[in-house]
Amino acid sequence: MLASLTLLVPPASPSQFLSFNRLSHFHFSPSITVSDLLRVTSRRLAWAAKTQSITTMATGEDECVGNVKVQLAKLFEASLKVTVPNEPDVEPLVAACTGKFGDYQCNNAMGLWSKIKGKGTQFRGPPAVGEAIKNNLPTSEMIESCSVAGPGFVNVVLSKNWMAKSIQKMLIEGIDTWAPMPPVKRAVVDFSSPNIAKEMHVGHLRSTIIGDTLARMLEFSKVEVLRRNHVGDWGTQFGMLIEFLFEKFPNFEDANETAIGDLQAFYKASKQRFDADPAFKEKAQQAVVRLQGGEDKYRRAWAQICEISRNEFHKVYQRLGVHLEEKGESFYNPYIPEVIEALTKQGLVEESQGARVIFIEGVNIPLIVVKSDGGFNYASTDLAALWYRLNEEKAAWIIYVTDVGQQQHFDMVFKAAKRAGWLPHGDGSYPKTSHVGFGLVLGEDGKRFRTRNTEVVRLVDLLDEAKSRSKAALIERGKGEEWTEEEIESTAEAVGYGAVKYADLKNNRLTNYTFNFDQMLNDKGNTAVYLLYAHARICSIIRRSGKDIEELKNKGTVVLGHKDERDLGLHLLQFVEVVEEACTNLLPNVLCDYLYNLSEIFSKFYSNPECKVIGSDMETGRLLLCEATAVVMRKCFNLLGITPIYKI
Ligand code: ARG
Repeated sequence: MLASLTLLVPPASPSQFLSFNRLSHFHFSPSITVSDLLRVTSRRLAWAAKTQSITTMATGEDECVGNVKVQLAKLFEASLKVTVPNEPDVEPLVAACTGKFGDYQCNNAMGLWSKIKGKGTQFRGPPAVGEAIKNNLPTSEMIESCSVAGPGFVNVVLSKNWMAKSIQKMLIEGIDTWAPMPPVKRAVVDFSSPNIAKEMHVGHLRSTIIGDTLARMLEFSKVEVLRRNHVGDWGTQFGMLIEFLFEKFPNFEDANETAIGDLQAFYKASKQRFDADPAFKEKAQQAVVRLQGGEDKYRRAWAQICEISRNEFHKVYQRLGVHLEEKGESFYNPYIPEVIEALTKQGLVEESQGARVIFIEGVNIPLIVVKSDGGFNYASTDLAALWYRLNEEKAAWIIYVTDVGQQQHFDMVFKAAKRAGWLPHGDGSYPKTSHVGFGLVLGEDGKRFRTRNTEVVRLVDLLDEAKSRSKAALIERGKGEEWTEEEIESTAEAVGYGAVKYADLKNNRLTNYTFNFDQMLNDKGNTAVYLLYAHARICSIIRRSGKDIEELKNKGTVVLGHKDERDLGLHLLQFVEVVEEACTNLLPNVLCDYLYNLSEIFSKFYSNPECKVIGSDMETGRLLLCEATAVVMRKCFNLLGITPIYKI
């Protein structure tokens, strides 16, 4: 991309001492001269969820067949071309209807009217424009009827037959045919990212859960996702830890997890020692220098400490079923000097109060990239990491999942990257970066979540408790006699871990939420337990019918004759646009809402005596509708990282 930057060395072991301190508050005045820098060409985001962008979407393989909104938008696009031939760039605005006049509506008439009035148009107002849009709509088997309402909204009622056929097609060809197709080949999701020897706290749990879901949604959309664990594995604290390790364990290589016990306690003890004993402090500082110099013994001690932390993190990932690839801060060390050098050559880096900084438009503190002591920091690493991800890993979308507290940091890093021409300026263009911020996890007392007696919450204990509580509930329901021990265990895990994940994901991530076991493990309301049971019930309906569902998919037909059947069918078809929306806006709660509504709409259908399933004349079609609901629910669970259960 940037010629001067391609000279960077390949990854090597960290050979320099870099000190990482989180930026605190500095106050400088902004002084920006934004030159017109290299622009990066990219494919525009043409997600169908932003129906406006549909015109930029390529036809053929890029087309997302399952997306109703996109398909309708295409029809409206054709109509608009005929209706207002002199306005070639009008993007169709199609949205699902909230009212009862249709399933979808086209909202172009009013906007168009304000564009064309006074230009000698034959139309007499927005309703007439709407009428023309309706009349010029190409015929399509998708549409049953159209009507114009109010100031020109064109309402579309979808054809029941077409809806039924689309659902049947999905049943036969699989839910993957309903995957969104973003114009991105490879993405980085930087998530979880705890710090070595420090507490892996509930914030990291949130990052792990949210990041995993986003990665899953992208993977479902056939994007290659680099799941990056950007662990904090480098910094001055290692001098102290290493020296303390040598002191406690003369044969330090024997020091394993069991010997050290809690690494956080070890950190605390070494910090106390560091603060209390000047001689120790001196040695610790020496240790840092020797580590940076690459001295073998120090490197091995560092690696050992990292390994112990890693094992602890792994326990959490294992329970959550989350896969991550570690590329910690230390990985990017060798790249920092040259990245800073290149930015300096571009004139972005300036001296300020002894430090070297990048000024960012609209922000009254600069981004410090070299501290006044010459050391690098969190921001230098993030710049190098971003450079690496764009140039070496060729990622088109780089997503960072951290608490909202780090929003400004990322905002500044991204703006610096734009100034440097690494990223294009427009928001809809690629490559692009997104910060996915989230709020706090609160305890019952409304304060930051803590357990009763310890200062910090051990995440493993938290997850174990979720599991043991859901196991107790299963035993209470008499499953101890009915099920094998293995079934109890796996169900308790699915429900327990699923409950923790869902309680987190169902809220808009930016809000704080209260951690409450009783609430999340309730089998009523918007909880994973309720949803998992709802799915298991559908599976049991199908089992009870005694029919071979695979055979029915090919031999039977989905029918949406009853209103409740049609409502369910429509909601099923909207799955694609919902995943797209969740993915585009990086909001897992959108998918949770959809899933919860799906189970409510299913209940309405199933509990209606007019929609009797087993033993009715319409049994086959209704069983297929049950199966389609189960398939979509399972895909939602899968995207949310929740393991479905099949019986209760
Ligand atoms: N280790 C950091 C923390 O615990 C999170 C790192 C996020 N990723 C990044 N590229 N800065 O707050």
